[in-house]
Parts: sequence; structure tokens; C-alpha cells
Amino acid sequence: MITVPNTFIATTEAITLAGGKIKFVDINIEDYNMDPEKIKSAITDKTRAIIPVHLFGHSADMDPILEIAKKYNLMVIEDAAQAHGAEYKKKTVGSIGDLACFSFYLCSNYHVKVWLNLPRDLYRAAYRIMICNRYAI
Ligand SMILES: Cc1ncc(COP(=O)(O)O)c(C=O)c1O
Repeated sequence: MITVPNTFIATTEAITLAGGKIKFVDINIEDYNMDPEKIKSAITDKTRAIIPVHLFGHSADMDPILEIAKKYNLMVIEDAAQAHGAEYKKKTVGSIGDLACFSFYLCSNYHVKVWLNLPRDLYRAAYRIMICNRYAI
């Protein structure tokens, strides 16, 4: 699984807990997210997926990442835990790759209600999950 070292440890924990191996590619200095130019040299015949992380509310540069994934038949799993509502070329992050992960952890996404514009009942459910997560319930 290809991902970046500039992320929260949960990104890589998920890989190892699922029995995968981590292959890091470095970030670029424009947005501190995955540098698409560094992905190709990290791909081997064991590579299954690329996990770009949209860090600090900034989207990774998804078009070249998707292009490489298509060429090498890899899945793209977006780690959008720190970027609810962020956009890449008018698409909301989390809707661009094959799969996406969001976080409701209190510190990661304090303004969930505003960013997701959830209807009241869904907001209440999301808030409960967020609080349960905080207290490890
Ligand atoms: C980039 C990133 N990925 C994954 C996670 C994990 O989120 P959670 O703790 O809600 O599972 C976080 C949490 O802060 C994160 O910042």
C-alpha cells in the first residue's frame, strides 16, 4: 500500500492492521500532500492501492494519482479524515477515488456540522459517534 509519511499514524496503522505493508512516497512542498511524480518508482508487483491523504483541508493532486492507479490497476483510497468538505476541481474529496475514509474525531474535525451541512438528525448521529470515539466507548 502506497501512502505518505506526512500523516497521522492512523493511516499507516490501518494498513498494518489489515495485514498490508507500507511503502512511503514523499510529499511535495506546494501542498504537503503526496507527490504524484514519486509514485511510479514505489510501485512493485505487490502493490495493491494508493492512499493519498488530504491533509489540513487541502486535497492531494488527484488527477495524476488516478491516472497512475488506472495504468497499474491499483485502487485509490482517499484518507479524507482531515479534509471534510475540501474540494479538488469542484469535486468533494472522498468522492474521487474508489474508497474514502473520514474521521469524526473531535480534534480532527471540530466543525462537522458546518462542513458536512448534515440534516439535524444525521448531525446528531454523527455527533454521538464523535463523542463515543473520544471516550473510546
Ligand atoms: C489523516 C488521518 N487519518 C486517519 C485518522 C483516523 O481517524 P479516526 O481516529 O477518527 O479513526 C486521523 C485522525 O485524526 C487523521 O488525521
